[in-house]
Amino acid sequence: MEISYFHVAEDVPRNFELETAVVIDVLRATTTIAYALNNGAEAVETFADLNQLQKRSGEWPAASRLLLGERGGQRLKGFDLGNSPIDVIPEVVLAKRLFMSTTNGTHSLQAARNAGRLFTLALPNRRAVAEKLLSEAPNHVSILGSGWEGSYSLEDSLAAGSLATFLMEKSAGSVHVVNDELSAALALWDKWKDDREGCLRLASHGKRLAGLGNHEADFKCCAELDQLAVVPTQIEPGVLCAS
Ligand code: MLT
Repeated sequence: MEISYFHVAEDVPRNFELETAVVIDVLRATTTIAYALNNGAEAVETFADLNQLQKRSGEWPAASRLLLGERGGQRLKGFDLGNSPIDVIPEVVLAKRLFMSTTNGTHSLQAARNAGRLFTLALPNRRAVAEKLLSEAPNHVSILGSGWEGSYSLEDSLAAGSLATFLMEKSAGSVHVVNDELSAALALWDKWKDDREGCLRLASHGKRLAGLGNHEADFKCCAELDQLAVVPTQIEPGVLCAS
């Protein structure tokens, strides 16, 4: 299995085939997706564009839908929820379809939606996603970070390194790091693996969230490792379900 890491979707070369894509937005979209599906949401349907979200969600019965909207770290007016993993508790999301748009994470998901297979990764479901990849054994895995508005993010690179480390430890010799971005992510994981929350707080988006206030529980939740068995898997373009 060859693995590449792209800091943001825009770094993926044109005409590059995404055989299996793993999309990451540690702070916080893919962490929220992992918790929502773990807590019984029927599916999470993601949108880069808010107008498309409004149109599509309007076709869904009101009693079984929730709208999640975030820009700049803050909940959007008129939406049921923002983008916090601690809000998607079973009492709120069970059996609901979540229609979600965030600043960067849903943009990456949109860019990767034509991949042959698409999973989302956060630190709490790292082991589950890694085991899924080992069982499917694709030839090539592309890990896509979400960054911030087109630029690098520390926390997504940390998670990319955590995934590659797990795969290499479990399958030594058959997992090959293809690009320098992933080698750097491996070094980042090695440095911060025992202080993941510290790394998230050092990241520029971590500082942005801290500046908005009241995100202590989010940091703790997003920094958890291997707590969830859920593998968010795209079943049709833009629609993620638990597997
Ligand atoms: C994003 O998509 O950029 C994020 O998930 C932002 C956030 O809500 O922290």
